[in-house]
Amino acid sequence: MILVTGGAGFIGANFVLDWLNGNDEAVINLDKLTYAGNLQTLASLENDPRHLFVQGDIGDRTLVGRLLQEHQVRAVINFAAESHVDRSIHGPGDFIQTNVVGTFNLLEAVRDYWNGLEGEAKAAFRFLHVSTDEVYGTLSASDAPFSESNRYEPNSPYSASKAASDHLVRAWHHTYGLPVLTTNCSNNYGPYHFPEKLIPLVILNALAGKPLPIYGDGQQIRDWLYVKDHCSAIRTVLAQGRLGETYNVGGWNEKANLDVVRSICSILDELRPKTDGTGYATQITYVQDRPGHDRRYAIDARKLERELGWKPAETFESGIRKTVQWYLDNQDWVNNVTSGQYRQWLEQHYGNKA
Ligand code: NAD
Ligand code: DAU
Repeated sequence: MILVTGGAGFIGANFVLDWLNGNDEAVINLDKLTYAGNLQTLASLENDPRHLFVQGDIGDRTLVGRLLQEHQVRAVINFAAESHVDRSIHGPGDFIQTNVVGTFNLLEAVRDYWNGLEGEAKAAFRFLHVSTDEVYGTLSASDAPFSESNRYEPNSPYSASKAASDHLVRAWHHTYGLPVLTTNCSNNYGPYHFPEKLIPLVILNALAGKPLPIYGDGQQIRDWLYVKDHCSAIRTVLAQGRLGETYNVGGWNEKANLDVVRSICSILDELRPKTDGTGYATQITYVQDRPGHDRRYAIDARKLERELGWKPAETFESGIRKTVQWYLDNQDWVNNVTSGQYRQWLEQHYGNKA
């Protein structure tokens, strides 16, 4: 059995769905169900005995220890985190609590369990920590993409908290010998993405006739990876990664935000043309920039390809089309997720930016 943390969130839920689609090894899914956790995403697993959902905190050592012991877990994949940069600027406290203190407590519970294992079970055990490219800071237009040996230079409360968690994971390997693996991935997109993030926000605002908010000049660059490719990279690293190593994961899809938004608009123009004859791009609105906004991220994913043979399956063009179509086809999920709490966040965050 494997233990997945944060498996009711965007990437964790995609990982659990894909995992159980591909094999019968059961999953314990430990998730606190913050605003970002959504059990509706996992509705298809409701009566599936291979999926055990437990609501709880990664910082609860007793709970984690009990789950590991009772189910004789052979691997932990840690997705649980506060993940939204804008929220970390408004309120960094939860980011320190979950991403730093929570990861510390999780590592301690896992270390305790791993110390009690013997023989083959001990040798085969893995702790895989899911992290981000944002720990490396920002790039200029001419800089080489981030490689695993780049210095950590996090710039937001979110990326600083993820950097801290990466350092803890590294230290637990170096000092205690815990068999860890770390992945640092670029921006994901795809089904079940919470609409506080750029791509789902733009799709839903466009359909609702609302402004499409572009921070600053819209020329910030991100590398985009279809979420199912990230999941396949994690499965690859879990199965074959070298202990204590970090692997950068990316899609070789550097795009300026404005170009991403324009691509979404033109796919929507084709799939769901507006009745007033205008295009969705007319809804683009420039708003106040994000404080400390990193200018460019780019990932050099050659180590993962060279050592473990992983490559993304989707291009940005194929992945973004699938994603737009998914949001058009899954209105129930969207209605459920755009709850009162989320509407309050939109009001607080965008209300004074226009
Ligand atoms: P998300 O915000 O959609 O989901 C996070 C999940 O973690 C939620 O279900 C939430 O309920 C749960 N959670 C939060 N605090 C918890 C706690 N204390 N205990 C247990 N569960 C808790 O995030 P995501 O986009 O799916 O990201 C997952 C992981 O991948 C994060 O660690 C993030 O840093 C990393 N990552 C994300 C991206 C991206 O583009 N989204 C890219 C690279 C890395
Ligand atoms: O790089 C990996 C990271 O990608 C992950 O570690 C984070 O968890 C994930 O949230 C994501 O962070 P970003 O800050 O890059 O994602 P976001 O979707 O919030 O923003 C993408 C870009 O779009 C960024 O440059 C800010 C900009 N943006 C965002 C929003 C929400 C806008 O211009 N307007 C918006 O309304």
